[in-house]
Amino acid sequence: MKALVLSGGSGTRLRPFSYSMPKQLIPIVNKPVLEHALENITALGVTDIGIIVGDWGPEIAAVLGDGSRFGARLTYLRQDRPLGLAHCVRLARPFLGDDDFVMYLGDNMLPQGIGEIAEEFRGERPAARIVVCKVPDPQAFGVAELDAEGTVLRLVEKPQQPRSDLAMIGVYFFTPAVHEAVAAIRPSARGELEITDAIQWLVTHGADVTAAEYAGYWKDTGRAEDVLECNRWLLGSIAPRVEGDVDAASELVGPVVVGPGARVVRSRITGPAIIGAGTLVEDSRIGPATSIGDHCVLRSTRVAGSIVMAGAAVSQVPALVDSLIGRGATIGPAGRGAAHHRLVIGDHSRVEVAA
Ligand code: G1P
Repeated sequence: MKALVLSGGSGTRLRPFSYSMPKQLIPIVNKPVLEHALENITALGVTDIGIIVGDWGPEIAAVLGDGSRFGARLTYLRQDRPLGLAHCVRLARPFLGDDDFVMYLGDNMLPQGIGEIAEEFRGERPAARIVVCKVPDPQAFGVAELDAEGTVLRLVEKPQQPRSDLAMIGVYFFTPAVHEAVAAIRPSARGELEITDAIQWLVTHGADVTAAEYAGYWKDTGRAEDVLECNRWLLGSIAPRVEGDVDAASELVGPVVVGPGARVVRSRITGPAIIGAGTLVEDSRIGPATSIGDHCVLRSTRVAGSIVMAGAAVSQVPALVDSLIGRGATIGPAGRGAAHHRLVIGDHSRVEVAA
């Protein structure tokens, strides 16, 4: 079995971050979303992995390299324009050949893995096995209608009147039967070749299409709130580890990771929390549910429920909560005695100040 990871897309819902980085590289517990995906795939024993990339291809390749770090072999496949998930399958045909494959959307997080579903697929080899999850807002997803045995009756992409609350989540298993389907379909109203339509084509043509309802935690990390929630969820199971230096005047409470070369000075860190390598935390209170990236500086600050990305500096901020701070950003006082705020922030940023 091979894997096809989709990492194109513009990520407009994650602006401003998606102006400067692909959304799939947003760090959750200090590890890019895409790396979490690759770990789930290699856990299946799948090592031959194609990655569809768009304009951010070089940035993604700079982080993932040839995949040897994950025990995988990565093949980068360039998609010039986001023409849909089924278009990605068309494009990847030379890479996929006639192998079965798992298709994995690179911004989907399934921290409990997909091992069981992969086993079921390998055992039964239906033309397609999709993964579904009950959601409160099925209109935002591909929606599946199943019979009592879990056989797929009908699939509709982002229906206005959903006939079930089962959303297709970003993991699909296919035999080579899918190639005829992706070749046969036409673009949808949004101008994309939808994988949902290709799978519906298989259903219509009598192919065996099954669905697994995912019982674990799943998040499409499309929005800042999703990223923070997922970070909070994953932090819930971190194993405490202190590699950096924590001085005698500091206190770590609950599960806390302090990365190599990090320094914690006169501070209190309430887990679950992770402090990245080479980061300085001084006279601050961090956590819970907080990930601080590598080489950050936090001084006289309180941060909770947040992600602070690599190289950011935060000083003298009394209460920062549920925040997503980008790489190299600086937040600090406006100057001695100043009674105003001064902002230099990028397009489509969001600032919420205490009134
Ligand atoms: C895509 C699929 C949709 C699926 C969703 C899962 O939607 O088209 O069927 O439910 O991923 O994350 P998109 O994120 O492209 O809007």
